[in-house]
Amino acid sequence: MTVLKAQGLGKIYSSKGNILTTALTDIDLEIAEGEFVGIMGPSGSGKTTLLHLLATIDRPTSGSIEINGVNPVGFDDKELSLFRRRQLGFIFQDFNLVQTLSIKENIILPLVLEGMVPEQIEQRLRPLAEKLQIAHLLNKRTYELSGGQMQRTAIARAFIHKPSILLADELSGNLDSKSAKDVMGSLQLMNEMDRATVLMVTHDPFAASYCKRIVFIRDGKMFMEIRRKNSNRQAFFQQILDAQSVLGGNFNDVPFARN
Ligand SMILES: Nc1ncnc2c1ncn2[C@@H]1O[C@H](COP(=O)(O)OP(=O)(O)OP(=O)(O)O)[C@@H](O)[C@H]1O
Ligand SMILES: [Mg+2]
Repeated sequence: MTVLKAQGLGKIYSSKGNILTTALTDIDLEIAEGEFVGIMGPSGSGKTTLLHLLATIDRPTSGSIEINGVNPVGFDDKELSLFRRRQLGFIFQDFNLVQTLSIKENIILPLVLEGMVPEQIEQRLRPLAEKLQIAHLLNKRTYELSGGQMQRTAIARAFIHKPSILLADELSGNLDSKSAKDVMGSLQLMNEMDRATVLMVTHDPFAASYCKRIVFIRDGKMFMEIRRKNSNRQAFFQQILDAQSVLGGNFNDVPFARN
């Protein structure tokens, strides 16, 4: 089943003085349920712009987007935010957890907003927290957690309401290599065990090597796509490095093996 379908997406930013920047041109992207897709490309190539359009945070200048068969084009702000809350799960580079809430309260927030009863919330929370290895941290506050633990909390929050798709922008960007490995392993687990559909933007070839398909963009255009053939993540990591060298440009990260 198709979860996300973008056709002919374009984005032109106009800033003060009528300076136009073409950030994206004619992007087609289709993501099926259970896929684990990465978006890569040099700095300024349009990755964040693409993610914002797909997340309905920003509107495209041309083209269309469907999420679960729904095109939110005519929605007003209120309808859009409800649509986002129900259909999408977000994971950010800087975690975006609420510091005044406990870890548990952070995770269950989307369910509380939906008015779910406490017993049901508990039933959703427990297995998820155990799978993400944060069950022992539920009563703690964010400042008591490591970066990796905070990001696994953010994954739990993004997934607890069973969104159609998880969207992540540089989720390993603020993590050391050990935490990045834990977080990517957790995301892989959600993808394999719970059929979570994941779309992530990343600079980091190591994080990207957990994906099953990578879409490379350059100068706002689709450049190439590579797929992982088997469970061999090391080989895929090498394939990603090779693709980056073909692509050229500034990737902001010096790639180094972290396997
Ligand atoms: N709000 C905006 N107004 C005007 N131009 C913008 C805006 N946001 C992005 N751009 C421009 O659009 C292009 C794509 O930017 P975008 O942030 O999507 O790139 P990116 O691939 O995410 O880069 P990075 O890897 O550095 O995060 C760039 O030329 C950028 O300067
Ligand atoms: Mg970006």
